[in-house]
Amino acid sequence: MDIIELRHDFPILQREVYGKPLVYLDNAATTQKPRCVVEKIDEMYFTLNSNVHRGVHFLSQEATQAHENARKTVQKFIGAASESEIVFTRGTTESINLVASSFCRAFCKEDDEILITAMEHHSNIVPWQLQADIRGVKLRVAPINSRGELLLDEFEKKISPRTKLISVTHISNVLGTINPIDEIIRIAHEHDIPVLIDAAQSVQHIGVNVQQLDCDFLVFSSHKIYGPTGVGVLYGKEKWLNAMPPYQGGGEMIANVSFEKTTYNEIPFKFEAGTPDFVGTTGLASALDYVAGLGIDNIAAYEKELLDYATERLSSMDGMRIFGEAQNKSSVLSFLVKDIHPYDVGTLLDKMGIAVRTGHHCAEPLMNFFGVPGTVRASFAFYNTRGEIDLLANAIERIVKMF
Ligand code: ALA
Repeated sequence: MDIIELRHDFPILQREVYGKPLVYLDNAATTQKPRCVVEKIDEMYFTLNSNVHRGVHFLSQEATQAHENARKTVQKFIGAASESEIVFTRGTTESINLVASSFCRAFCKEDDEILITAMEHHSNIVPWQLQADIRGVKLRVAPINSRGELLLDEFEKKISPRTKLISVTHISNVLGTINPIDEIIRIAHEHDIPVLIDAAQSVQHIGVNVQQLDCDFLVFSSHKIYGPTGVGVLYGKEKWLNAMPPYQGGGEMIANVSFEKTTYNEIPFKFEAGTPDFVGTTGLASALDYVAGLGIDNIAAYEKELLDYATERLSSMDGMRIFGEAQNKSSVLSFLVKDIHPYDVGTLLDKMGIAVRTGHHCAEPLMNFFGVPGTVRASFAFYNTRGEIDLLANAIERIVKMF
């Protein structure tokens, strides 16, 4: 990949902040958008804006076609068996809330258990706690070691006859740990337990194939894979989606409505109440085509090089503490340096034009495990360069001197 050339696809990367060239290292929070995605959104609004699935007229037919083609693009991108297994949502968070609400309603009773890991994002903790309040389900948590790796033996020991679902992140948004999801899914299925994979931090870095993985659910967000905000995906095996009740009621999710009784549409529409974000889904498809054009393996190889280089540069610094030293790791570097508060590091980096995230990264239990209030997190995308990592390293050295 010619990174310098590719950077021209992302106009925002050419801008300056505080009179300095922007160094954007907050890609785990959201990625920048290539020109083709923004042009696709423009084209949708300027040439075929019309409500989908509802109109006999030309524009509505065209918009519906574009929206349903987007579903096929997602299906192909993640290797799903059927497009009816692709539900569009507002993002990873809504996808997990949908499964938590609908799956638990169908299959969980008081004292049934949901197993997660100690490195989950709040969006894979709180939806299950809401079900704990509503239905009395229990949350079990599989532990990790100090390198930020899941303890697989301990994980298996947490499985009980009451475990109804296992929900794990593929890649930690804080540590970069790549979890052994093949193994997790194999173990879970030996116990006849379905598995949800939170792929919010993996689809854009190492790719996924849901049929090869044999996962039961997989979720991700458009905005973290170079697509527009406000759109997400829930993949679910047909047998589960068919067995689960609707999440929300409204237009399009119904077959027939009367005041006495309503019957529901087939999947995936049963889970898509209201006008979908057909502009967003089309933008997402454009982003996925862009990523597929680059090749996820090329992206993974290049980003691995970047991460290794960044790790080498930062870990040699005096007083540097890196959080997340898993053997299998991707795209994220969380750290603290000396006893400087992460907000101070983040604020000073910002003034030097470098965007990173600071704080608990929506993973407070993980921060508690490491005994810190937060970290500084640099997270990479394929458009980042070694030069930008040098700027980051030099800036951190400057900050350390200031303190
Ligand atoms: N989940 C996103 C992050 O890790 C927002 O920054």
